[in-house]
Amino acid sequence: MLVLGIETSCDETAVSIVKDGKFILSHIVSSSLKFHKKYGGVIPEIASRIQLEIIGLVLDNALRQAKVKLRDIHLISVTQGPGLKGSLLVGICLAKALSYSLGIPLVGVNHLYAHLYAAFLKPQKQNASILHPVVFPFIGLVISGGHTSLFYVKDFNAIKLLGETLDDACGEAFDKVAKILGFGYPGGPLIEKLAKKGNPRKVSFGSIRTRKPLDFSFSGIKTAVLYTVNKNKCFLKTRKSLTIADKKDIAAAFQETVFNTLIQKAYSACRMKQIDRLVIGGGVAANNRLREKFNQEKGHKDLKVYFAAKEFCTDNAAMVAGLGYILFKKGLRDNLDLTVRIN
Ligand code: KG4
Ligand code: ZN
Repeated sequence: MLVLGIETSCDETAVSIVKDGKFILSHIVSSSLKFHKKYGGVIPEIASRIQLEIIGLVLDNALRQAKVKLRDIHLISVTQGPGLKGSLLVGICLAKALSYSLGIPLVGVNHLYAHLYAAFLKPQKQNASILHPVVFPFIGLVISGGHTSLFYVKDFNAIKLLGETLDDACGEAFDKVAKILGFGYPGGPLIEKLAKKGNPRKVSFGSIRTRKPLDFSFSGIKTAVLYTVNKNKCFLKTRKSLTIADKKDIAAAFQETVFNTLIQKAYSACRMKQIDRLVIGGGVAANNRLREKFNQEKGHKDLKVYFAAKEFCTDNAAMVAGLGYILFKKGLRDNLDLTVRIN
């Protein structure tokens, strides 16, 4: 069964064609990042205008890469939310138009659940087949620019939220800290690069606490970084402005503190639910240090940690097509009333 997936929840415009939920025939992602860079974050109006202009082209490229025609497609799967309203509408309108004109079914999928499904896609270069057999239930951790959420996943149509961020998302904190340190957007890859050469013990940002054990909070550490930078505190003492070495140390300390929290909460969720499978997806999951730490600090040896392959951590349509296939097989259908679900 050929599924055409469409993803437009933020600044990316992505279309992918996936066979039987696992064989990736095409994987096209176009980002409007360069138009947002000077503002230090994604401007929704700019994102949706560009998506409207290029989505036809992205669709053509995906069909060409997969060497298929529109009439070969059996199902349309589209991100319904959460995300930016205008951007989501661009994808949903295309999905509905294709479904109606081709006379094929349509399913809307949740973007966060698709980030978890991404861990079950194999990179295109390695002969595609499912990376890990899906064994339910598992604990799912989504760490992206807009969300930080822990889920109990009984099946892809039975997912329960266990905890989420009370303020900034994890990726958002990386983006803001990069900005505070005088770097561009997106901040995640930049902080990762800086942190690699920094000493995380030169400065301390304390630990991150929340009232409910499985919730997250990242605005406090972001503010602590801001104070450290503004007041030239701690190890910086008398210096007027930060050196690049200072910035590397701050980035390393920030990154370690955030990752310690993610590890502690994710493993707590596994213990609480007595599950030894943890699936991790979303843009921040592309970070090498995070992957290394999760594998080093497992707590108990039976725990298995599954990361999405790097190319499927950030937003893409293969994960949307894959999840759409699974949900369709379970009987889910949407009709032309399908609309945006922001939350
Ligand atoms: O999943 P994603 O592409 O979009 C959302 O659904 O939000 O995630 C984007 C986020 C950005 O905040 C970006 O800074 C972060 O993922 N990110 C990273 C890395 N690569 C992307 N954060 C930390 N380390 C990285 N290597
Ligand atoms: Zn995402």
